[in-house]
Amino acid sequence: MSESFRLTVNGTPHDLTADPRTTLLDALREHLGLTGAKKGCDHGQCGACTVLLDGRRVNACLILAISQQSAQITTIEGLGTPDDLHPVQREMLEHDGFQCGYCTPGQVCSAVGMLGELDEGWPSAVTEGETPALDREEVRERMSGNLCRCGAYPNIVDAILEAAR
Ligand code: FES
Ligand code: FES
Repeated sequence: MSESFRLTVNGTPHDLTADPRTTLLDALREHLGLTGAKKGCDHGQCGACTVLLDGRRVNACLILAISQQSAQITTIEGLGTPDDLHPVQREMLEHDGFQCGYCTPGQVCSAVGMLGELDEGWPSAVTEGETPALDREEVRERMSGNLCRCGAYPNIVDAILEAAR
């Protein structure tokens, strides 16, 4: 059983034919060859598959691709280029924010979405007062859905804080 549908990824429309049960993560990786988003748990628990849907961060392993035909999907491949890195990518390099790198695309996409949420004043579980602060505690809490088995967390937080300055 297959369906034809269209996904707009990093500004480019792609027509594909796939099982309607195909997750967004599998559509990106297996059908479109965009392997930046990683499959860690495939159950919404690690954040390795994080991409942006209309600027909001999501776990691509939990979303059906066919349901996102009207969304602007941004993956790590669309955030920067080797010659023109996104500020979060640049600071991840500067601050040694990764070791094996498997979690890194998800960390970067999540950080970009998270900084947008902070900009819009969305509170988190650790926010005190009306306006969330840009500090380590907020970043750690807001990035808690992105696991790193290499334990690069302190440097990831440093990178995100620097990118936001
Ligand atoms: S692969 Fe999606 S959250 Fe782990
Ligand atoms: S850098 Fe290896 S899992 Fe995060």
